[in-house]
Amino acid sequence: MVLIAPSILSADFADLKNEIIRLDEAGADMIHLDVMDGVYVPNLTFGPAVVKAIRPYTKLPFDVHLMVDNPDAVLGWFANAADIITVHAEACRHLDKTLETLRTLGVKAGVSLNPATPEEVLRYVLDKLDMVLVMTVNPGFGGQNFLESQLEKISRIKAMIGERDIKIEVDGGINALTGAEAVAAGADILVAGTSVFAGGDYAGNIASLR
Ligand code: DX5
Ligand code: ZN
Repeated sequence: MVLIAPSILSADFADLKNEIIRLDEAGADMIHLDVMDGVYVPNLTFGPAVVKAIRPYTKLPFDVHLMVDNPDAVLGWFANAADIITVHAEACRHLDKTLETLRTLGVKAGVSLNPATPEEVLRYVLDKLDMVLVMTVNPGFGGQNFLESQLEKISRIKAMIGERDIKIEVDGGINALTGAEAVAAGADILVAGTSVFAGGDYAGNIASLR
């Protein structure tokens, strides 16, 4: 069964507490939190203080997507509020070591790949991974178009994972149509911002993604 992870990048930032509660009531499986530093990606969002502030308003897992340079410097700031922390392979000088740090911090470990990054970077860290996040847009902004080129990458990662307990999450341009394509290629978790928040019917939108 596919899991739906709404991205609060599309939420009303002036009302985050209630947005979290509404997503929970609408049937979300986890909350996707896009942390951007204005360096690794050309946009800035929020940091650990905001993640901590909204943590009490749902029991759903917090899926923290770090779009930051040198994530090692900030992992500890998010560890208490996050269930899973995803770093970008391209932003880590020593990816294997960073994944060990995530294990030590007691959170699940995810690695994200930008559209131009080949899946081969995952091969020798598979035993330290809980999730692979395939970016189906270039990170930084919501509302971009899904890159069909990433479907082949999803299938290749699925094959590489084999019997291991590693989930594949996709992020960027996901709607009912592209979500179905991603799931057919092997995705387990769909991140969606625009398509969950569109029109305000969060429950209906989550149901149609499912
Ligand atoms: C993009 C973020 C996504 C974004 C997706 O850099 O990582 O999580 O919120 O937004 P949509 O669903 O609008 O493409
Ligand atoms: Zn994201």
